[in-house]
Amino acid sequence: MTLRVLSVASEAWPFIKTGGLADVVGALPAALAEHDITVTTLIPAYSGLASMPQVGRVLDLSPQVLGAPARLTEHHTDQGHVVLFDAPSLFARGGGPYADATGADWADNWRRFAAFALAAADLAAGVGGLPRFDILHAHDWQAAMAAVYLRYRSDEAAPPPPAVVTVHNIAFQGRFEADVFPGLGLPPRAFALDGVEYYGGVGFLKGGLQAAAAITTVSPTYAMEIREPAFGMGLEGLIVERAGAVTGILNGIDTRLWDPAADTDLAAPYDVRTLGRRRANRTALERAFGLDRLDGPIFCVISRLTLQKGMDLLAGVADQIVASGGRLAVLGTGEPSLEAAYAAAAARHPGRIAARIGFDESLSHLMQGGADAILVPSRFEPCGLTQMYGLRYGCIPVVARTGGLADTVIDANEAALGAGVATGFVCEPNSAASLAWAIARATALFADPGAWRGLQRQAMKADFSWRRGGARYADLYRRLARTRS
Ligand code: ADP
Ligand code: GLC
Repeated sequence: MTLRVLSVASEAWPFIKTGGLADVVGALPAALAEHDITVTTLIPAYSGLASMPQVGRVLDLSPQVLGAPARLTEHHTDQGHVVLFDAPSLFARGGGPYADATGADWADNWRRFAAFALAAADLAAGVGGLPRFDILHAHDWQAAMAAVYLRYRSDEAAPPPPAVVTVHNIAFQGRFEADVFPGLGLPPRAFALDGVEYYGGVGFLKGGLQAAAAITTVSPTYAMEIREPAFGMGLEGLIVERAGAVTGILNGIDTRLWDPAADTDLAAPYDVRTLGRRRANRTALERAFGLDRLDGPIFCVISRLTLQKGMDLLAGVADQIVASGGRLAVLGTGEPSLEAAYAAAAARHPGRIAARIGFDESLSHLMQGGADAILVPSRFEPCGLTQMYGLRYGCIPVVARTGGLADTVIDANEAALGAGVATGFVCEPNSAASLAWAIARATALFADPGAWRGLQRQAMKADFSWRRGGARYADLYRRLARTRS
């Protein structure tokens, strides 16, 4: 039987992207199609959404959602069936999805994403003209309240569809003051320990995790880590209490969008048999970043510049990369102090270190295809996608042993090299010394072209397609749909 899933998120590639959430939400429809599951993706109608086909049908939602004029519009796209939550007073603004142009969170984020989630719950339950969905799948705090609204629906003849809530990053929780509660349109009993109440305020993710029929995280290791205070960020008790509902399903990558053999952003496409052609991409990368042409390795970074990503640790070892003959190309945006740290490193080492402060999808592809190694020294990493893109492109990942990074990279220690299974370099999280040591090991191996080529081949062989993850989500949806019917 075909299952219908409503996937609800604040980002989806190619329409709107600030991070990995968009890649995952954009890839799910295709990943699930072969399992006889059709996915409708619901995202907010931000101003300037990229490549959105003209409005199809306007769905019949109540004209106001939490006091804001709103409508749902249906679109048939290359990514499948997409519905937009079109509420101009909430979403048609300059700046980013969550913050204004100065980087300050929108003061009404609670109302924006509560209204979005309420519309999602209505749509899933059959309001608006589409048939009821079998499953609502909410991603992160911006969508998590959909599970809460489904749970407290009062007018149900049939039980509402079960909700899956996926935690892409438990550090972002959607916490607000208690005084927003009356504006949420929930019954008073929802302001309780098993509802949305959270340390005296309101927690959107917290409420969603309580209401969900199933909770997933984006890697098995992260599912385990968030049971501990160091990673759970206050929600560890809830995660432990709901352990029976929690599973870790490793993200895949879209192997059509991220395919070195067919990537139009590369100067020279290549595959595992034609690795020599990578050299042309390396040259294009040197040119794009104004790096000197030298023999040592080019390390790259494609990342939010934040403490989560360990970008302060890396800034501290940048000089050592140069001292040992390496170069560093950084693409990212984030905390002003870190942006400044990389600009300063570039100024200290012209031709050796270069930083591009900005978001550039096309350049990110060229970096994976031209750099020798990608650095991902995160303090925590729910899954991480750039190391998987790196593996597929033969851009060797140097990662911290945490979350999805630990689940995807095999360290090039003597045993793994001997057995021919190594795919990258792994260091301890939150240790500049350990990161420097991993970079030194990579630099040493790079000096042996045969060994490096072997490592690249092994990395490129690894299968991180959506094959396994798609099957696991499909199993989960079917199990939930069965228990509900
Ligand atoms: P997170 O979602 O925590 O930021 P992920 O590794 O899961 O980390 O995903 C990040 C995604 O965003 C990847 O697709 C990566 O290539 C992309 N990305 C991050 N920063 C930039 C940037 N400055 N320019 C282009 N792409 C970027
Ligand atoms: C979050 C996490 C990242 C993960 C991504 C997609 O942004 O920080 O680790 O890969 O979501 O699930």
